[in-house]
Amino acid sequence: MKIGILGMGTVGAGVYKIIQENKKEINKYLDNDIEIQRILVRAINKDRAIFIPSELLTDNYDDILNDESIKIVVELMGGIHPAFDYIKQAIMKGKHIVTANKALMATHGKELEDLAKQKGVFIKYEASVGGGIPIINTLMDSLAANKIEEIIGIINGTTNYILTQMTNYNMSFDEALKLAQDNGYAEADPTSDIEGEDAAFKISILTSIAYGISVQPNIIEREGITKIDKNDIKYASKLGYKIKLLAATKRFNDSVGIYVYPSLVPNEHPLAAINNEFNALFVRGNAVGEVLLYGKGAGSLPTGSAVLSDIMSVTKSINNNIRNSKKSDRLDNNMEVRGIG
Ligand code: NAP
Ligand code: HSE
Repeated sequence: MKIGILGMGTVGAGVYKIIQENKKEINKYLDNDIEIQRILVRAINKDRAIFIPSELLTDNYDDILNDESIKIVVELMGGIHPAFDYIKQAIMKGKHIVTANKALMATHGKELEDLAKQKGVFIKYEASVGGGIPIINTLMDSLAANKIEEIIGIINGTTNYILTQMTNYNMSFDEALKLAQDNGYAEADPTSDIEGEDAAFKISILTSIAYGISVQPNIIEREGITKIDKNDIKYASKLGYKIKLLAATKRFNDSVGIYVYPSLVPNEHPLAAINNEFNALFVRGNAVGEVLLYGKGAGSLPTGSAVLSDIMSVTKSINNNIRNSKKSDRLDNNMEVRGIG
C-alpha cells in the first residue's frame, strides 16, 4: 500500500518510525507493507529529528496528488490552509484520507466527510483527539449501540503538562510551556493549547460523533489556563483539589451543553491523578455505563500510533474492496448548543 504523507514534523516522524520499526506487527494485521512513496514538506533541506531519504521529500504537492500509485494521503501538516484544499483535491482524485488535524476536522469536518462519502473514499481522524487514545474508534465502533449521555475529561496534553509541572515542581508557567514545546506536545503556535482552543476543537469533534451535530468550535464556552498562577495552585492544594483543564459535552433533552474550563478536581477523583501529557476521558453511555480511557494525549509515537491504526484500517478496507458508504457522523440533528453552567 503506497501512501503520501503531507508534513514530517513531530507526528510525521512518529509515523515514519513506526512504519520502519513495527513492520512485523503491521504485517500481522495486513497482507501488504505500508510503503511511503512521497513526503511533502515546506523546506526540503531542513535538519530533521530523524533521517529521511532525500528522494522521498518534495515541496510540490502535485508530486503526491498526481501519483496514481498513492492510494492514501496522510495529512500531518496542521492548520486549515492549505490542508483543507489539499485534502479536497485528493478526495476528488479518489484518494483516501487520514489526518491528525483537529482544527480542520472541527471546522470543516462535515463538508469533508460528505465529499468523501460522495466519492466512496474514507476519511479517518483518530489522532485528532486524545493522541494515542482510541477515543474516536471507541465512540464510532465499540460504543456504537449506546446513546452517549456525557463525555468529560482532560484532552489537552500541553496544558496538563504545564499544570502538572506548576503543581508538583513549583515551576513557572513559562518554564513549563517551554518544556512542553521541547517535547513536541504543543501546537506550532501554543496559544491554541493554553487558551483552550485546541480542547474546544477536540470536544467539538467528539460532540459531532456522539450526538450527530456539527458544532463550530468558536461558539463553545471556553477559558484556557493563562490566568492560573502559583497562588491558585497553592490554595487549591490546601483545600484538597487539583486544577485541571476539563472539557465536557453532555446531552440534555433538546440541547447539548459543552464547555472547556480550568476546574477544581477533588484529589480523590481519578482525573486529579492524570499528570503530564496524559489525557483521560470518561464516556457515559446509556447501555454500557461509564467507560474510562487513559493514555498519552500528545507526542510523536503515541500520535503516530493512532495515525497508523487509521492507515491500516483503510488499507484493510481497500484490500477487501469496501467503499465508504457510511452515513455522515454529523447528521444535522436539531439540537441547541449551550454551556453547562
Ligand atoms: P509540526 O511538528 O509543526 O510539523 C508540521 C509539518 O508539516 C512540517 O514537516 C512542515 O514542513 C509541514 N508543513 C507545514 N505547512 C506546510 C505547507 N504549507 N506545505 C508543506 N508542508 C508543510 O506539527 P505536528 O506537531 O507534527 O502536528 C501535525 C498535525 O498533527 C497537526 O494538525 C496537529 O494538530 C496534529 N497533532 C499533533 C500532535 C502532537 O503531539 N504534536 C498530537 C495530535 C495531533 P517543514 O518540516 O519543512 O517545516
Ligand atoms: N497540542 C496538543 C496537545 C497535541 O497538547 O494535546 C495533541 O492533540
